[in-house]
Amino acid sequence: MTDPLTNRSGAPLRVAMGADHGGYLMKDDLAEHLRSRGAEVLDLGTNSGDRVDYPEFGAAVGRAVAAGEADLGVCICGSGIGISIAANKVAGVRAAVVHDETSARLSRQHNDANVLCLGERLLGPAVAVAALDAWLDAEFEGGRHEARVAQLDALGD
Ligand code: RB5
Repeated sequence: MTDPLTNRSGAPLRVAMGADHGGYLMKDDLAEHLRSRGAEVLDLGTNSGDRVDYPEFGAAVGRAVAAGEADLGVCICGSGIGISIAANKVAGVRAAVVHDETSARLSRQHNDANVLCLGERLLGPAVAVAALDAWLDAEFEGGRHEARVAQLDALGD
């Protein structure tokens, strides 16, 4: 049994989640997984297979993270790509599309990604859970990566 997920204040980790119709089933699976690890999930939809447009949901997750309403965000669409582009339009967001544990871990260690993006049509459920866990359990390494992440954030100014 691992320790419950917490934020820097020691409170339960708050994770904003958003998906389009191509990702909402994976969102619900991963939300369940996050809750089982002690996180609080802010579910920003969508919650059915009815066609919607991913920019709305990626932006909603990005805004929740940028505003401090959530500590981290998770976005899912068919490929993970469109919704990541939307989330990255929000200043302060560093959204990374990942495809496995290694890319997920590196997105945190090197890029301090605060939003994880996954493609439901590309990843099986076990790979998605493993990638999510690898991202959650990794830590930003700082050091040589610090200035580069600051440069990323300055691009939004
Ligand atoms: C929706 O059909 C699909 O285009 C969307 O989920 C995503 O893959 C876009 O990047």
